[in-house]
Amino acid sequence: MTAALHTGGLLLAIETSCDETAAAVLRDGQEVLSSVVASQVALHAPHGGVVPDLAARSHVRALEPTVRQALAVVPDGWDGIDAVAVTRGPGLVGCLAVGIAFAATAARARDLPLVGVSHIAGHIHSARLADPTLEAPFCALVASGGHTECLLLEADGEIEVLAATRDDAAGEAFDKAARLLGLGYPGGPAIERVADAGDPSRQPLPRTRLDGAFSFSGLKTAVRYAVRDLGPQALDEHGVPRDAQTVSDLAASFQEAAVMQLVDGLEAAVERSGAARVVVVGGVAANQALRKAVMGRFAGMQVVVPPLALCTDNAAMIGVAGWERLRRRGPDTVVTADPGLRDHT
Ligand code: KG4
Ligand code: ZN
Repeated sequence: MTAALHTGGLLLAIETSCDETAAAVLRDGQEVLSSVVASQVALHAPHGGVVPDLAARSHVRALEPTVRQALAVVPDGWDGIDAVAVTRGPGLVGCLAVGIAFAATAARARDLPLVGVSHIAGHIHSARLADPTLEAPFCALVASGGHTECLLLEADGEIEVLAATRDDAAGEAFDKAARLLGLGYPGGPAIERVADAGDPSRQPLPRTRLDGAFSFSGLKTAVRYAVRDLGPQALDEHGVPRDAQTVSDLAASFQEAAVMQLVDGLEAAVERSGAARVVVVGGVAANQALRKAVMGRFAGMQVVVPPLALCTDNAAMIGVAGWERLRRRGPDTVVTADPGLRDHT
């Protein structure tokens, strides 16, 4: 057991894996004293997706003030912190490196234990912040702009990957489909907004059901072809359908196909794992159609879908996972950025 993990110990967590600069302070690895997220959405919106170089440079600017804001709740500031956790992957390598360099320098200067955390483990553990009664083992769907995976958190803290996407992440597919429909970025909320007024049966898109995997690139291509097949008269100068109802119908159809694939895949993973508890996290978990479908499919089981602020990227979730890892494995001597990290334990 690490000295830093005395009861009431304070941990500073840092998250910079993609397009949110985030810092949080937790007591005992579960009580969130502060959680600050500086979003880069406006920076990337004109590009229709996250631009890695812009993201890394923005982290350099935003990280110090974000950490300072998170530390404002600690009377002694840095002197009151007992350990530092930072996301080590998966993510954009330049972005991860900014957070790791900052965390490692701060920890070394103050002789604090440092722990590198899987971003995916963070998402999984965010469910425990939302519902402290949630116990492992449970099966988690992590669906975001960068990831789509079903994982099993075992009782001993090990994390097993049960299914992963073969190509695009679910959120990425929402973003690409939204671009084809002229709906802007981020695409998930934009699709959801117009899908409400749409009829999914007017422009049906193919449903994918794979065993032990997800695939979203075919669905995105199907949207592209459906738009093209409307003919040049129906499209504006950007190649976007002019008719708002057609856009709504395609958005509704896309959303239904994407949600069905996620819920079917999760159901298969739950059956295979034998887990009796289900968790849905990541930015796509903000989708109401997905939430409703999950609640319906797993009625009778404990289902945890955290509130929005915990579903999207934040540092509080890195703090929970980091505390758990520190407790089980002790601090890391070196933390290196691992953009394709697969071992999430
Ligand atoms: O977890 P997140 O904030 O960041 C990472 O990608 O790690 O997820 C962002 C993704 C974006 O692709 C966004 O379009 C998607 O989550 N998203 C949604 C919704 N809100 C955000 N997708 C579907 N429906 C939503 N309401
Ligand atoms: Zn994420």
